[in-house]
Amino acid sequence: MARVIAVALPKGGVGKTTTAVNLASSLAVAEQRTLLIDMDTFGASALSLGFTDGTVKSGLYEVFNFTTTLTNAIHKTDLPYLDFIPSNVHSLQSEERMFRLADNRTMLRNAMRGVVHQYDFIVLDCPPILRGMSTNALTAADSVLIPVKPGHFALDAVDKLFKYLEWIKEVANKTISVEGILLTMHEPNTRVTDITLKELHSKYQRYLFDIFIPKNNLLGEASFYGKPAVLYDINSRGSKAYLEIAQQVIARTRQSRVAVTTLEPTILQQFAQQA
Ligand SMILES: Nc1ncnc2c1ncn2[C@@H]1O[C@H](COP(=O)(O)OP(=O)(O)OP(=O)(O)O)[C@@H](O)[C@H]1O
Ligand SMILES: [Mg+2]
Repeated sequence: MARVIAVALPKGGVGKTTTAVNLASSLAVAEQRTLLIDMDTFGASALSLGFTDGTVKSGLYEVFNFTTTLTNAIHKTDLPYLDFIPSNVHSLQSEERMFRLADNRTMLRNAMRGVVHQYDFIVLDCPPILRGMSTNALTAADSVLIPVKPGHFALDAVDKLFKYLEWIKEVANKTISVEGILLTMHEPNTRVTDITLKELHSKYQRYLFDIFIPKNNLLGEASFYGKPAVLYDINSRGSKAYLEIAQQVIARTRQSRVAVTTLEPTILQQFAQQA
């Protein structure tokens, strides 16, 4: 059964797509069966993986429209363990329609039922706003991974997301957890980075990943060539950091699965005692 991770923050340009694409690719490099779904109608994930209008057959748009299934919208990528579902929205009219369809927040969760058993991880690349598509992602997710770019307002966006998660827990997904806060575009010894880190430490220390994604132009360059960083230059600092994050995510997922299975006898014992 896949662990579903939504990559989200209600702020533009913080590295959500870069993180979703490179985390998913790094999980795939570690031979984890991974599916990346583009929840953003802008379609940046598709471009980052080298898909064009000509190579996309159908996507989330058709799935939400009930004209195809999620399985039929799966696209193979250059990485054997990585599959992809584009959003496939190319006009203002279809974007409007997609937003209307996404008002039903369980759309994605229902559609994913047929594929969760085929993957170890499903990564969701969310848009920078907390409405329809992000709500769908957070309703379907086991956890949320929060990329934060150093700078003013970073903490405001994290606060806003945490507040939203409380609402999501109440109305749609009570078990969603925080995978972690990931500092992206890290530049050592700059005041902006120092202040952002200090603020994050003071309020969200327990959620902070202990490694940061360095500011590394190769990450942006790779997406121009339609390649995840691991296929563009696996030895770059950016690739190495995402590979390390993927290892941490895999290790935690294994730990939580062991914790669940070791918990089961205790629960069974409690039932036995009550009976
Ligand atoms: N670690 C990094 N180092 C250097 N540049 C980066 C890094 N991460 C992302 N970028 C660049 O920053 C820009 C924004 O990144 P990205 O598109 O991943 O953000 P986003 O949060 O998905 O944006 P949006 O909210 O618009 O969807 C892109 O040009 C990307 O190439
Ligand atoms: Mg994006």
